[in-house]
Amino acid sequence: MRIDIITLFPEIALAPLRESIIKRAQDAKIVEIHAHNLRDWATDKHRKTDDYLCGGGQGMLLKPEPLFAAVEDLRQADSKVILTTPQGKSFVQADAQRLATHHHLLFLCGHYEGIDHRVIEELVDEELSIGDYVLTNGALATAVICDAIIRLLPGALGDERSPEEESFSDPNLLEAPAYTKPADFRGFKVPDVLLSGHHGEIDQWKREQALARTRKNRPDLLEAQEGPPTS
Ligand code: ADE
Repeated sequence: MRIDIITLFPEIALAPLRESIIKRAQDAKIVEIHAHNLRDWATDKHRKTDDYLCGGGQGMLLKPEPLFAAVEDLRQADSKVILTTPQGKSFVQADAQRLATHHHLLFLCGHYEGIDHRVIEELVDEELSIGDYVLTNGALATAVICDAIIRLLPGALGDERSPEEESFSDPNLLEAPAYTKPADFRGFKVPDVLLSGHHGEIDQWKREQALARTRKNRPDLLEAQEGPPTS
């Protein structure tokens, strides 16, 4: 897979992808990542990339000219063009799985105050948000999305645990709590069942705990499955 990222802050997008599993995936040529500074496509003498809103209003928007030029230079025939923005559709694990099947992803990192809407209408295939909060720009959000996608690429996790067993592999259930040694730490014990060697009982315990954890931390996931309460 090849990923190109167009941003005013290439380092913010790249730095989180230079460690650990994602670094190894790049070293192993499973993925190639290039971040580009949008300013390189600005043509005026101040290399301006934003401007005031038409019709008035606070803040600045990213201008269309440099974004069109950058996308036209970097786009390939089968590229998926993604804008990271708080106005996007919520990015979930199923999106990571779907996007992991593409050959080329081209990310545009939004400005927190927005971008000219003609870019979205003419160039962007999908707008994605990583949550209901506003970051200073889309570069960090792009790094988050790239991490979630790249770890799913064949070979990226190496011998580590398969992504099939984790939270959101079943989109409506979180993972059960997990413990390691020592079995007794300051009197806080690992649940007996996990030390019993009874795989059937362990699986049953994990299912119950996964459900309890989901009910406590993400009741919305269970409601999505069961429908809204009737009374
Ligand atoms: N840019 C600013 N905030 C964002 C968010 N929550 N998700 C994606 N891109 C963003």
